[in-house]
Amino acid sequence: MADTLTVTDNRNGKTYEIPIRDGAISAIELRKIKTSEDDFGLMSYDPAYLNTASCRSSVTYIDGDKGILRYRGYPIEQLAEKATFLECAQLLLEGELPSKSRHDQFVHEVMHHTFVHENVKRFMEGFRYDANPMSMFISAVAALSSFYPEANEVEDPAVRHRQIVRLIAKVPTLAAYSYRHSQGLPYVYPSNELSYTGNFLAMVFKMSEMKYVPNPTLERAFDVLFILHADHEQNCSTSTMRQIGSSRVDPYSALAGAAAALYGPLHGGANAEVLYMLEKIGKKENVPDFIKKVKSKDAMLMGFGHRVYRNYDPRAKIIKKLAHEVFQVTGTNPLLEIAMELERIALEEEYFISRKLYPNVDFYSGLIYQAMRFPVDFFPVLFAIGRTVGWLAQWQEMLQDKEQKIARPRQIYTGPDKRDYVAMGGRG
Ligand code: ACO
Repeated sequence: MADTLTVTDNRNGKTYEIPIRDGAISAIELRKIKTSEDDFGLMSYDPAYLNTASCRSSVTYIDGDKGILRYRGYPIEQLAEKATFLECAQLLLEGELPSKSRHDQFVHEVMHHTFVHENVKRFMEGFRYDANPMSMFISAVAALSSFYPEANEVEDPAVRHRQIVRLIAKVPTLAAYSYRHSQGLPYVYPSNELSYTGNFLAMVFKMSEMKYVPNPTLERAFDVLFILHADHEQNCSTSTMRQIGSSRVDPYSALAGAAAALYGPLHGGANAEVLYMLEKIGKKENVPDFIKKVKSKDAMLMGFGHRVYRNYDPRAKIIKKLAHEVFQVTGTNPLLEIAMELERIALEEEYFISRKLYPNVDFYSGLIYQAMRFPVDFFPVLFAIGRTVGWLAQWQEMLQDKEQKIARPRQIYTGPDKRDYVAMGGRG
């Protein structure tokens, strides 16, 4: 049997044979389907990319129906249990788990790029006292571009590597500064002798103590959280990173755009929306009424549903377990009870079953962040630290992919035909 698709154009009876490769047809093949020489040819129409693969990628594999997530072939459950975040970062960026010496070198490189220029600090000081941390983070990442002019040499692997290391190293610093700023607290400089996540906790929570010692459970919890958020193939923000990067702009500018996409309430902003929702529900007894509102489309169950998963998000399972470990240190988040009741009822309801709506990564992560005393508007920033690695891995893959060009979709024009200009006095 041939791996082709035979298409008959019923407008003129012509038949075309279109190759099928990896379960897909190339949209450009459709262009051959024309009714006349000056016909542009057929296009595919796919708003929101519901059924369009925009690239070939070997970074992350998802089977949404089975609830499977793998980085470079490794199941997320194994990585979350056994690896550190920086080990995962190398796996995503380089394709393989690193040897001890390669890993030590990478950790050294990252931990020696954690400082930001003093002017970045001053730049951040310029934000209003109540500025949203995610706005500050996005702006500060974009501002880094002005500090590293060589970064626009994106085709040079050595230059690229330097910016990748810088970004992974500096995003926790920018994130922590945005937190300290919003709390009116002095910024804390990085400590290179701590682990990646231990240093982050120090920059966020250090007060007057001479030496900040991170709590090992929370330090490990952040490793797991960053691993779980590190990549998720062609999601909204990653596609944004690839799309902006396709113009060959520097990675700081592209990553600021990706972070902006993440900020939205339907994407990385959903973890904050879950908290607002749980606070609004208030108590367990109000859950059935809230579910009724969701079913009548008067409310959304935030943290539920996913474009790709039609099963329980495997990250949500790991986070739910992690929440119990974190609560042993921080004390239980009282909203957990409401969340678990919501999940219990939702998973039994026809509305959710028929639409295959299950908890996603954001459903429980906010509860952990809140128990750690992070303000809700800081949650998307925490997501962005982990996802930075995925954005960079995908950006690098896009640059090395010979099939990729500047991203430029087509449109179906629905506006008026040509018409002549009417002077202002003659308009109706
Ligand atoms: N609550 C209630 N109903 C929902 C929800 C939800 N959270 N999600 C989807 N639905 C319903 C839709 O109304 C629709 O119903 P209909 O068939 O009666 O019209 C049906 O389920 C299909 O949903 P779509 O909106 O078509 O699904 P889509 O793939 O476009 O959206 C999305 C996915 C954006 C994640 C959506 O489920 C959503 O908004 N969820 C809440 C926000 C959220 O948690 N986002 C985080 C996603 S994970 C991440 O970005 C890290």
